[in-house]
Order: sequence, then structure tokens, then C-alpha cells
Amino acid sequence: MAKQLRVGMIGYGFMGRAHSNSYKRLNDFFDVEHRPVLTAVAARNQQKAKSFADQWGYERVETDWRRVIAADDIDLIDIVAPNRLHKEIAIAAAQAGKMVLCEKPLAMNVAEAEEMTAAVEKAGVPNMVWFNYRRVPAIALAKQVVDEGRIGRPFHYRATYLQDWTIAEDVPQGGAGLWRLDIADAGSGVTGDLLAHSIDTAMWLNGPITRVTAKTETFVKERKHAVSGEVQPVSIDDACMFLAEFANGSLGTFESTRYARGRKNFNTFELNGADGSLYFDLEEPEYLQYFEYLQKQSGKKIEDHLTGWRKIHVTNSEHPYMDRYWVPGTTIGYEHTFLNALADFVIGLETGKPVQPDFRNALQTQKVCDMVLESARTGEWRQTGVDR
Ligand SMILES: NC(=O)c1ccc[n+]([C@@H]2O[C@H](COP(=O)([O-])OP(=O)(O)OC[C@H]3O[C@@H](n4cnc5c(N)ncnc54)[C@H](O)[C@@H]3O)[C@@H](O)[C@H]2O)c1
Repeated sequence: MAKQLRVGMIGYGFMGRAHSNSYKRLNDFFDVEHRPVLTAVAARNQQKAKSFADQWGYERVETDWRRVIAADDIDLIDIVAPNRLHKEIAIAAAQAGKMVLCEKPLAMNVAEAEEMTAAVEKAGVPNMVWFNYRRVPAIALAKQVVDEGRIGRPFHYRATYLQDWTIAEDVPQGGAGLWRLDIADAGSGVTGDLLAHSIDTAMWLNGPITRVTAKTETFVKERKHAVSGEVQPVSIDDACMFLAEFANGSLGTFESTRYARGRKNFNTFELNGADGSLYFDLEEPEYLQYFEYLQKQSGKKIEDHLTGWRKIHVTNSEHPYMDRYWVPGTTIGYEHTFLNALADFVIGLETGKPVQPDFRNALQTQKVCDMVLESARTGEWRQTGVDR
């Protein structure tokens, strides 16, 4: 029998659209009992929220998110508002006994993330953080390859996450669409916004990061604030590079910037081990590249005239998530990463095996982000304190 999953969405921007699409498509592609109902959307501007609600099919609009949390006809709160609001909304939702899904980064800092984690755990409510890149089939396949022991002893992990949209000095900071440049709304710059994704993927594939040393830079020192109209110092990190040590003894390099001309959302990683390597590039999201040195079944080392990287087109029904979609050779897109994440959350509800990353898992990524920023401030290596 179908069970309703009545959704209260807080915010209606980029992620509001991506998540609404997943709620609407869930039952088209996944055989789950829960049926999402787009019950309410909250945002401060009634008119804009209403037009969003009409377009996506939400039943009603609230201008105060607290009313959505207090409502008896809501089961799940989905937080797609700027980072500054995550903590207050998540804690209120947990205390009201609602399931809580929160966008990344979980919080502005570790102290907030710890309070949020304590709140959902105390309330015993299902929770998840939308680190959607784990749900790219090729990245999920990379995880499978690592778990199958095909990489052997890992030596290097290398991640980049590059964009170019803040190079112009006249891009204002703050307000709608530009809150990412305002430290008060975002908590940090590329570290929380982009590297949080890279760190989540890295620790999922290669285990805990134990120590970091970082360098950040803010290239444009002052920008006009879009709300006050005043020219104000820019306090976010425009670029961040850090070195990492993993608990398994491998070394990591991470680079992120919004000043890489021509790079729009260039998200890559490479893992090099004794027995094999993996490479992924979000600009070719349907491919996973794999170099096999030690053949697992035969134990044979492959070093001959045909040795080379394999570019695996991750579209077969044997590949993660792909049996839900089209025929082999046909691809899915960015939006499906959110649909896959939602499906995993709902399957977790139905099987009693909670989904990852939950708040506690995302707290570990927050610890790395905080220590990266702290290391950049002090110029010293920092222990991350990530749970092993
Ligand atoms: N998983 C990903 O890949 C990914 C991608 C983009 C953004 N995000 C995260 O999603 C969150 C939202 O980002 P976005 O890109 O959708 O931002 P956005 O600017 O497009 O949308 C933010 C929304 O929050 C609303 N909002 C602001 N203050 C509010 C309030 N007091 N009450 C209710 N609503 C309020 C705004 O009206 C807007 O609808 C951020 O935490 C961001 O880091 C994640």
C-alpha cells in the first residue's frame, strides 16, 4: 500500500527545483512504497513562492518556514535555503519530529553541525545530507571498484573543483543568488561550497582524512553588497588548495577556485593505488576511467603492449542505478543524481537501513572544511578530528 511522504520545502531556488523534480519523478523510476506529495513550500516572497508552487505543483505556500514545520500535514522538511539558515531550520524540524533532508554543506561550521547532528539523533528522525555526487552512477561504480579491492594499496587522491563565475570585480556580494559571496550567509567560500563535495566523495572512496594544510586566497578584496549597496570587504575564500593525509596512509591534494577561466563546474578526482587507478570528470559524467594493473580473478599483472586506461561507459543495467532508466548506451543527467539520492533515502526508510550520508557523516566533512580554513589562517598543519 502506498504511503504518503508529505514534503515541506524551505527555499525555492536552484536546489528547490532540483529536489522538486526528484519528488515528482521518484515513483516513475523506483519501485518504492512512499509517494511524495508536494505539500508546502516556504519562502519570504509570497508572489515568487506562489509562482514556483504553481509551476511545480505544491499545494500551498508559506512565507514563514516555521509554519511548515509546525504543520501536522508535513512528514519531511527539505532545507534548500542558504547555509546560514540550515541549523535553525534543521533543529526546529527535528524537534517537531519531522524527517530532515538538508543541502550541503551541512552547516556554517562544526559547532553548528554538532548541534544539528545531536538534534536529529535525539529526536530519532531519519535524516540525510544531499551530497548528490555520490549518486552519479560512475562515482558509485568507483566506490564499487574500491570496495572490490581492485585498487590495492592507495597512494594518491587528487581532486579539483573549478568554476569561473566570480572573476569580474563588479559581481556584487550578498542577496538573492549571490549569498555565496557573503560570509554571513555562506560561512565560507569555495571550501564549504565546492570542496565539501570533493571531501565527501574522497572520504567515501578513500576513508578518513586525518591531517590537512591549506592555502586560501581572496582575489577581489572588496565588492558592493547587493542589499545595502555599500562596498564591503570580501571575507570568503575565492580559492583554496590543501594537502591531506588519509588514515590509510595515502596523500591527497585538493584544489578549488571560482577563478579558473573557462571552467564552469569542473569536478574531477583520481585515485592511484598499487593495483589500479580510477579517474572521474563531471564534464563526462557517464564515464569512469579505470587502469587495471593487477587482474583480480587471475592475480596476473597486466603489463603488455595493450596496457592502457579503460574508459567505461557507465550505462549498462549492471551499473549502479542504471537498471532504473533506459537501455544500455543511453545516458542520464545531473538531475538524476538528486533522484537517485532521494530513492536511496526512501529505500533506507523502507528497509530500516538508514541512508548515507546522514548528518553524522556530513559532520565529518564539516570537520575537514573547518580545519582546512583554520590551517589557511594559521599556516600550520591541523588534525581534522574525523571519526575513524
Ligand atoms: N548539492 C549540490 O550540488 C548543491 C548545488 C547548489 C546548491 N546547494 C546548496 O543548496 C542550498 C541552496 O542553494 P541554491 O543554489 O538553491 O540557492 P538559491 O539562492 O538558488 O536559493 C536559495 C533559496 O532560499 C530562499 N531563502 C532565503 N532566505 C529564506 C528564508 N528566510 N526562508 C525561506 N527561504 C529562504 C531563497 O528565497 C531561495 O529560494 C545551499 O545550502 C547550497 O550550498 C547544493
